[in-house]
Amino acid sequence: MIDLRSDTVTKPTAAMREAMAAAEVGDDVYGEDPTVNALEAEVAALFGHEAALFVPTGSMGNQTAIQTLVPPAHELLCDADAHVVTYEVGAAAALGGISTRTWPAVGAGIDPAQVAAMLRPEGYHAVPTRAIAVEQTHNRAGGAVIPLSTLQSLRTLADSAGLSLHCDGARIWHAHVADGVPLSTYGALFDTLSVCLSKGLGAPVGSVFVSTAARVAAGRVVRKRLGGGMRQAGILAAAGRYALAHHVDRLADDHARARRLADALAPFGVVDSATVRTNIVLLDLSKSTVDGQALASRARQDGVLVSVLGPHLCRLITHLDVDDAAIDQAIEVLTAVFRA
Ligand SMILES: Cc1ncc(COP(=O)(O)O)c(C=O)c1O
Repeated sequence: MIDLRSDTVTKPTAAMREAMAAAEVGDDVYGEDPTVNALEAEVAALFGHEAALFVPTGSMGNQTAIQTLVPPAHELLCDADAHVVTYEVGAAAALGGISTRTWPAVGAGIDPAQVAAMLRPEGYHAVPTRAIAVEQTHNRAGGAVIPLSTLQSLRTLADSAGLSLHCDGARIWHAHVADGVPLSTYGALFDTLSVCLSKGLGAPVGSVFVSTAARVAAGRVVRKRLGGGMRQAGILAAAGRYALAHHVDRLADDHARARRLADALAPFGVVDSATVRTNIVLLDLSKSTVDGQALASRARQDGVLVSVLGPHLCRLITHLDVDDAAIDQAIEVLTAVFRA
């Protein structure tokens, strides 16, 4: 099977498994796992922040960050398609008592003036705004990259309003590779980031919450409360360290392969390949005679797995376990469905 459903389906490589097996470990709840400590120091330095915290998932990274920024009964603003409000099963409200309010889904095309118009001050009538979250790259917007200038405007807005800015950077590596923006430049713009090691980078588990030393100390408490205090987690952190050392630059290959998929499918009117900047290809089937379920089931019969995001929306993602030959094969299978 050629699995294009997600970049989370990768299996650790033999070399990554060797690094995991050889990892020095200790009890990380006591702060004594040297491999976890090394990973945290490394990721903090990459983003130019004081500290970082290894967490099991991107969802926990986001929720830990949000809970350190927004007190209960205050609000977080984000876009209507953001992972933090779409795919984290209501965690901000259920676990943090946090209100969320969204601007219409615009993917990477955020208008800072529209966000500014939503802010609500402290007071006893409305829910006061405390933080803004963005997603880089944007999953439901097809891996779109938010331009640096937009992020800089949001930083200026946050500073002038006394708010915090969070980045769901599950795929920030992809933005860094696509736009050439240094990770430290992204880091300087945000109060908190959550970055994933298990999407695209190929680690089996793990994300990292990045911020100031004080916020990471507060985040350590939130992580424990959420049940995310891990013991000999160095086995997992070793996979993350290996991924950072070996699997970031190669994301350019995933981007080129996604573009090749999009170029091959563009003639069927289901994607504008110029919009494909990173490793995600969204197929808009609203003008096609093939719907999402039909595409997925016909492709599956011929050995290609795709995600169905809506009745007329499918998603293809390239990753570490999909090489050029697999892309050739996927193109053959998918174009045959549209030709039939
Ligand atoms: C943009 C984004 N943020 C956060 C997450 C959450 O990651 P996890 O599945 O590790 O909780 C995902 C997962 O795919 C994601 O795409």
